[in-house]
Amino acid sequence: MNVLGISTKTHDSGIALLSNGVPAFVYEEERFNREKHTLKFPNAALNAAVNGQGLDLRDVDVITAPWDMKRLRRSFFRSVMSKLPESLNLLRPGARKTQATLIVNQSGWIRVGLYERFGYANLPEIVQVPHHDAHAAVFFVSPFEEATVLVMDGYGDDTATSANIGVANRIDRLWHDDFFDSLGMLYTCVTEHLGFEVFQEGIVMALAALGGPTYASKFKELIPLKPEGRIAINRDYVSYDTHGLLKPFKEKFFEAFGPARHPSEPLTDHHYDLAYALQHTVEEAILHMVRELSRRHLSRNLVLAGGVALNCVANARILRDSDYEAVWVPPIASDSGVILGSTLYHYHHTLGNERRLVMTHPFYGKGYTDADITRALDAAGLAYKRIEGPELFKQTARDLSEQKIVGWFQDRAEIGPRALGNRSILSDARSLKMKDLINARVKHREAFRPFAPAVLVEHVSEYFDLEQPDPFMTMAPKVRADKVDLIPAAVHVDGTGRLQTVDRENNPRYYAVIEEYAKLTGIPVVLNTSFNRQEPVVNGPEDAISCYLRTDMDVLVLGNFYVTEKNPGAIRRARDAFDDQP
Ligand SMILES: [Fe+2]
Repeated sequence: MNVLGISTKTHDSGIALLSNGVPAFVYEEERFNREKHTLKFPNAALNAAVNGQGLDLRDVDVITAPWDMKRLRRSFFRSVMSKLPESLNLLRPGARKTQATLIVNQSGWIRVGLYERFGYANLPEIVQVPHHDAHAAVFFVSPFEEATVLVMDGYGDDTATSANIGVANRIDRLWHDDFFDSLGMLYTCVTEHLGFEVFQEGIVMALAALGGPTYASKFKELIPLKPEGRIAINRDYVSYDTHGLLKPFKEKFFEAFGPARHPSEPLTDHHYDLAYALQHTVEEAILHMVRELSRRHLSRNLVLAGGVALNCVANARILRDSDYEAVWVPPIASDSGVILGSTLYHYHHTLGNERRLVMTHPFYGKGYTDADITRALDAAGLAYKRIEGPELFKQTARDLSEQKIVGWFQDRAEIGPRALGNRSILSDARSLKMKDLINARVKHREAFRPFAPAVLVEHVSEYFDLEQPDPFMTMAPKVRADKVDLIPAAVHVDGTGRLQTVDRENNPRYYAVIEEYAKLTGIPVVLNTSFNRQEPVVNGPEDAISCYLRTDMDVLVLGNFYVTEKNPGAIRRARDAFDDQP
């Protein structure tokens, strides 16, 4: 049975195919159309699936969409009617930045898009899966037979926070809070207040490590903790329930926490302290929910989903400070995951099919052949060598130990926002200067943001305060005190590291490079950052070659093809082509 998930008219559009309970592919449109968090109909992803995977709509039994239109319209209507006339502002452009108003007819737009793409109207049935159920459905590919599932995001069709119980092939909702009692929305609004943009919440999380508790106790007033493990957002401070992102805060917020920072203003202690207050208060709110859930329900397993579950600092605290023995966060916690989630929910919960798979790796994106790679290299006019397995891993490890910056492109792309070893830029974790070097030569990110360590799974507890694997980079535990000086480039200012564990079974080539590097240096940890520069993570070899040529990386490895050459003509062509992109 084939279930095709599709999302459009909202951020992170894309497609996912679940084939007899196993994900065949998960294609995020941004990887293909090169537009970050795109809202567009996933035409490029569909083309890739048709041409590469032989997708034929006539083989699809049912289509799922990760929003329930009835619930969404009801929530919109209620929000607009609730505080008239101010709440009419919610209808103005800019009140929502990540979603088109047209989403209220998402299924209709899916129908139109598919008709335009395939030219026939006889489509399979389109089933609408409630947004938080689609998030929670990642439970079906979790390692747990039963678990509590907590979903926290900006907002879904009927809620921003929901708690669920998953057992075998069922998920049942325990409770959900109001649409506007949203930790995700608050985080986004404070992110904008601090001069960053929507989807840059991770920068604020990193910034929080530089701050102190100046505003921490005052900020607690924003998120009152309610009985029974529930939370609320104090409407005395916020006005996004009437004005959305046009005017998210009331006067009381500015009196307490100062004016908004313009992006060109320097960051000061004041901004660090506000970021700290936000992060700390959100952590406490999540812990309040989690502790009560663990008190009331027997399960010792916790699954986290929704965009707030990208907060790896909070996730590490949950694991450390709650009674849950195991915490699992998928690689697709945010809305990049609801498309697959909608297919899983329908297949398992609605149709009652048995579970088929534990997701142990994230490599469900697009893969490319050797012919694709050499064609792209030839088109770019680059010289290259083919080096087979073991020698390639040794050469790459040598390059890393010599502090070269390596673009590492292998097999199928990762799904979700993190680069996890197939579309990664790798470098040496042993020298603090590597951070500045990667920033100056490749990434051009804020200097305070950390880079992530990738560690061989057998060594995780030796280097980090973590007793479980974390293949999806979802936790930021403390780096052990005696190891901080060994991997300084991977340690954030608060002593944590947003690590990724690497195991031989799920990524033998990546594992082999780190293993060879460990033989040379004695350190089983390398630095890993996403393969991109101010664009979506690279997808095909053309994207990787373009990024390599537009930046000052030293080495590019595409499958077994090894490149160190850059000629001025190739660089100029790559820059011109990138500037011409939409
Ligand atoms: Fe969501």
